Amino acid sequence: MQINIRPPAVQDIPYLYEICLKTGKAGEDASALFKDPYMLGQYYAAPYAFYPDSICFIAAEDGIPQGYIVCAPDTEDYGKWLEKSWLPLLRERYPQPYPAEKIASETESRMALVFHKQHPVPQPAWYALYPAHLHIDLLKTIQGKGWGRRLMESLWSALSERKVPGLHLGVNRTNTGALAFYKKMGFSSLAEDEGGFTLGKALS
Ligand SMILES: CC(C)(COP(=O)(O)OP(=O)(O)OC[C@H]1O[C@@H](n2cnc3c(N)ncnc32)[C@H](O)[C@@H]1OP(=O)(O)O)[C@@H](O)C(=O)NCCC(=O)NCCS
Repeated sequence: MQINIRPPAVQDIPYLYEICLKTGKAGEDASALFKDPYMLGQYYAAPYAFYPDSICFIAAEDGIPQGYIVCAPDTEDYGKWLEKSWLPLLRERYPQPYPAEKIASETESRMALVFHKQHPVPQPAWYALYPAHLHIDLLKTIQGKGWGRRLMESLWSALSERKVPGLHLGVNRTNTGALAFYKKMGFSSLAEDEGGFTLGKALS
C-alpha cells in the first residue's frame, strides 16, 4: 500500500463527496444526518475541484483518495464564482422551503439553507491578512500518520509561491482533534461564536 500526495483529477470527484460525508459531523461520520449523501460535498468539497483558481491536494492510497485539502486563495473571488457558476443549479435542486420528507436531521435542514446564502459574504477586518480559506478531511484509516501535516505543508508552499499572505478556516468547537491539529500547525483564533472558531495563520 503506497500513499502519495497529488493534485485532484475528475475521477476523484465521487471520493471527495464520500470523504466529506464520512468526516462531516465535527470530524466523525455524518451519514446518519443526511438523506442526501451529496449535500455536504456540494458545498465543502466538490466546488473546489472546479473553481479555476483553487489549490487542492489529494492523499491517495494506491491511487484511491483517502483525504484532501481544498483551498481558495482569494475567498472573495471564490464567493463571486460560487454565486455565478456553482450555486444557481443547487438552489433549484435544494429549494426553500426544503420538503420535510427529504430531511433526516436539523443539520440537513440547515445545510439546504446554505445554498441560498448570498456570496461573496461580507468579510471582517482581518480578511486582508488571511484571504485564503481551506478545508481538510482525511478518512480515519490514514489519520494520525502525518498526512494532514503533509497536505497542509503542500498547500502552504503553493500559497507562498502565489504570495498569498495568510489563510483561515472554520472549525466546530466540539472537534477537539482538529483543534489540536490546527494548534500544532500554528493557527490561532481570529474569531469565535457559539458554534466554533475561525482560525488563521500568516504565511511568511
Ligand atoms: C484533523 C486532521 C486533518 C489531522 O490530520 P492527521 O493526518 O490526522 O494529523 P497528523 O498526523 O498530520 O498530525 C499532525 C500533528 O497534529 C497533531 N494531531 C493531529 N490530530 C490530533 C488529535 N486528534 N489530537 C491531538 N493532536 C493531534 C499530531 O500529534 C501531530 O503533531 P506532531 O507533528 O507534533 O507529531 C484529520 O485527523 C482529519 O481529517 N480529521 C477528520 C476530519 C476533520 O475533523 N477535519 C477538520 C474539519 S475543520
